[in-house]
Amino acid sequence: MSEDILLDVKDLKIHFSKKKMFRDPVTVHAVDGVSFAVPKGKTFGIVGESGSGKTTTALGVLRLVPITSGSIELEGTDLTTLEGTDLRDARKRFQMVFQDPYSSLDPRRRVGEIVREPLDLMDIGDPDERDQTVRELFVKVGLRAELTNLFPHQFSGGQRQRVGLARALATKPDLIVCDEPVSALDVAVQAQILNLMRKLQEENGITYLFISHDLGVVQHLCDHVAVMYLGQIVEQADRISLFKNPQHPYTKALLSAVPKVSAYENREERVHLQGDPPSPINLPKGCRFAGRCPQATGRCHETPPLLTEIGSGHLAACHLIA
Ligand SMILES: Nc1ncnc2c1ncn2[C@@H]1O[C@H](COP(=O)(O)OP(=O)(O)O)[C@@H](O)[C@H]1O
Ligand code: SF4
Ligand SMILES: [Mg+2]
Repeated sequence: MSEDILLDVKDLKIHFSKKKMFRDPVTVHAVDGVSFAVPKGKTFGIVGESGSGKTTTALGVLRLVPITSGSIELEGTDLTTLEGTDLRDARKRFQMVFQDPYSSLDPRRRVGEIVREPLDLMDIGDPDERDQTVRELFVKVGLRAELTNLFPHQFSGGQRQRVGLARALATKPDLIVCDEPVSALDVAVQAQILNLMRKLQEENGITYLFISHDLGVVQHLCDHVAVMYLGQIVEQADRISLFKNPQHPYTKALLSAVPKVSAYENREERVHLQGDPPSPINLPKGCRFAGRCPQATGRCHETPPLLTEIGSGHLAACHLIA
């Protein structure tokens, strides 16, 4: 890849120890050896069903959950080992937009204060400058500057997500991690927010790590896409290759469930995804998708496939492909 890499994640593992009544604690393999690189100024999507480890990956990148192993580099700075003031300084460079614009904004605080908070916490500018920055941020995300005195409940869902974006932009971050930022909004509002995100990216050169279970949304915004299944990436490619030429049986199944984005529209080879993924506690020995894969063979149940390059920048983990 000739592009400059902003975020480089290598073999990230995030395991949780879960206590069980009257039994030994078990290990939840929420993220289990994930590697990806996000080019500067681009949008990297992570897609997968609920429970595949998307949110945990996001929280790991933001250093909001303990990392079991692996490395996360932001332009050469290893975020995994930063502590204290170094971590606090690095936090200016990465921010997050959450899924639920209803619960992620403190209902007792005025939206202007909410957007100002990162500037206060990180001591950026004097108080007058911070107020001015907040007004500019409101305008940037398409809200009138007078609205800073209102409370979150006085806004619609879409407007609240604009407030969330203004807050994320306050410290002029290089990277914004968005975890299902439009999933709680209706479709027309989703498109407005996605267009705003693209505009903000063009104006400010922001890089997004964009997490969603919705392939339609991912196709709208992302330059590169990784498909996660049970804590691992099973396929990764640029948007066009992934949507036009999906290779992994799981990606094919996900795509054929969404006719409007599907390469399989009007075709016979629709793959139907049945059942639920196995638990990230008792992992299968071979391919993690084997229990649901229509093409699984004996080998699949025995040996896990490795994520392998199958075309320029196109990776997949499946015995049938590599
Ligand atoms: N703090 C935690 N303790 C134990 N298990 C967790 C914790 N956070 C997430 N998990 C488990 O890790 C797996 C991945 O969760 P998550 O990252 O939220 O997936 P996604 O965002 O793709 O839906 C799930 O099985 C979830 O139950
Ligand atoms: S390795 Fe086997 S079970 Fe896994 S996705 Fe490929 S064909 Fe299906
Ligand atoms: Mg999630």
